[in-house]
Amino acid sequence: MPTHNRLGFTTRAIHAGEAPDPLTGAHGVPIYQNSTFALGTMERFQEFWDGAANAWGYSRDGNPTVARLEEKVANLEGAKACVASASGMGAISATLLTVGANGGHIVAAEQIYNTANKLVNEDLPQYGMSFSRVNITDLDAVEAAITPQTTAIYTEVFSNPSLTVADVPALAELAHRRGAKLVIDNTFLSPALYRPIEDGADLVIHSATKYLSGHGEVLAGVVSGSSEAIEPIRIKSMRLGSTLSPIAAWLLMTGMRTLPLRMERHSQNARAVAAFLAAHPAVASCHYPGLPNDPGYATASRLLGTDSAFGGMVTISLNGGADSIAPFVESLKVITLATSLGDTSSLAWPILGTDLVRLSIGLEDEADLLADLDNALERIPG
Ligand SMILES: Cc1ncc(COP(=O)(O)O)c(C=O)c1O
Repeated sequence: MPTHNRLGFTTRAIHAGEAPDPLTGAHGVPIYQNSTFALGTMERFQEFWDGAANAWGYSRDGNPTVARLEEKVANLEGAKACVASASGMGAISATLLTVGANGGHIVAAEQIYNTANKLVNEDLPQYGMSFSRVNITDLDAVEAAITPQTTAIYTEVFSNPSLTVADVPALAELAHRRGAKLVIDNTFLSPALYRPIEDGADLVIHSATKYLSGHGEVLAGVVSGSSEAIEPIRIKSMRLGSTLSPIAAWLLMTGMRTLPLRMERHSQNARAVAAFLAAHPAVASCHYPGLPNDPGYATASRLLGTDSAFGGMVTISLNGGADSIAPFVESLKVITLATSLGDTSSLAWPILGTDLVRLSIGLEDEADLLADLDNALERIPG
């Protein structure tokens, strides 16, 4: 089917990358769960060796099921190309190693996902890259951190876990004026709610483990951008060996068909939960960019073009401080004490070293979520 961008987002979420299998007519993408492919002729061998499109030879280098997933993601992001990885961290590693190659300097948000933070602080500097960490909402500080060696600005749109909001169009203007790329992690929103490439980002990363999959059953990562920007990242992923497996790509495509429907419901539920928690006497602070008094609200509503769909992540601190976290999370019955996010079921995760609890609000009935939270907040000793 034609998957050009004039079709609506929900239609493309279902159909992009999903033409019937040419061999059997199977409706939906088959799982090519093979490591190697018979090449038959030396001509075909040469095509594979030269990296020609659709010349499948070895699944670390490329696989037809994974290629369909990449087509779907690129379409939804409004990008020309995408490369999938075995996890979100695989996508982040291959991207930063590429944009920061040859001693590059990257200006990175001071708050990013915990393991990405360790990668930036502990691992990548061992390979000649340097980083400056800044408050990404302070554009003067971002500009001041840029040096002649700066090759990229790197941030999440809604940060993990505090949900600060990055002004992507302003950062894109700044990055491009100073000859750098803008690398965005859009995991918390997904392309159903926000497409950073439309606002000037050069590369958009997702932990596809989260909302893109939506069902907590795969680990995966994706990076999208122009063909010129993605090709070296694809080569890096391949050589580092972080290629996505065909079955994970297939599960991901299944999940992605309902992405816009799920994001609507995640947003609806999270908005109700955030409003409830913000007004609850046991809650000290509630971070949700969809609350009109949240510091990120103005930027978030401008970027997302909405005053109602801000995603499913809510982070709170409790009046009882760190001591109240255990009685709270251990009393939850519908919401599970577990890491990860973007699942159909709601998950709660304390952020160690802080007094924050991150809530990934799922697709359950709103009344059950509110009752579960109310009950758990009542269990905190006064
Ligand atoms: C914003 C963000 N980016 C990247 C990652 C890493 O993704 P993965 O766990 O799929 O490696 C995570 C994981 O929680 C995340 O929250």
